[in-house]
Amino acid sequence: MKDQDWKIICFDEVTSTNDIAAEYAQTMNGEKLVIKAKKQTSGRGRRGRSWLSFDGNLFFSLLLEYNEQNPGMLVIISSLSLWQSIKTLAPSANVWLKWPNDVLLNDKKVSGILLEKADEKYMVVGIGVNIVQSPQSEDMLYPCTSLKESGINTSADDFLEIYLKQFDNNLNLLHNSGFEPIQQQWIANAKGVGTEIAVQQHNAKICGIFKGIDENADLILQENTKLHKILAGDVFYKEEKK
Ligand code: BTN
Repeated sequence: MKDQDWKIICFDEVTSTNDIAAEYAQTMNGEKLVIKAKKQTSGRGRRGRSWLSFDGNLFFSLLLEYNEQNPGMLVIISSLSLWQSIKTLAPSANVWLKWPNDVLLNDKKVSGILLEKADEKYMVVGIGVNIVQSPQSEDMLYPCTSLKESGINTSADDFLEIYLKQFDNNLNLLHNSGFEPIQQQWIANAKGVGTEIAVQQHNAKICGIFKGIDENADLILQENTKLHKILAGDVFYKEEKK
């Protein structure tokens, strides 16, 4: 990943910005590309879920050159950059990171990140931010919110500009100082470190103390004396119903 300006391409409507970004991978030459859309007709989330397209919200995908070691680092940089962007707009906001790649505002999900491999050379980091609206339904896995609901007034374009600056700062930090300072910032701002959590994986649920994350973004969970490294799953905090 090189330090250079982003090329931003905006669409009115796409199926998914991740699809478009992946198509661009074939013609890229080491650039950093952002695909942004006002509307997605088939926006997707993690684990086969869909991502709704509310007017005024932000939908974008970053297309980044990567090497085999860094997909986990990209998740951490991407979510930390979201956390920092919200804090830039509202320094006293109650914002926490939630493994693997969510950001919670007042304990509700305000954004989502979906990493997909475009090809052997490029990774797509798809990001949705609830700027003005969020889905509301009783049977959702997690309650959702928007920035507007917490009185944080911004636009999709302004948020994206702030986000790309944060993301670049984090990439520079990675290049200059390695991954550890980024990993430590993520852990310092993650909800529930040191407390008991449950991680739901397909048909199994593991409970234990949330110890942090490693350099691959795997969750470290201590169950009695055993340390588990968890690669995928949904986290539930103790106060939440599972
Ligand atoms: C999740 O929390 O489940 C991840 C949601 C990711 C949504 C974004 S919106 C932009 C990009 N395009 C998609 O289809 N998905 C991601």
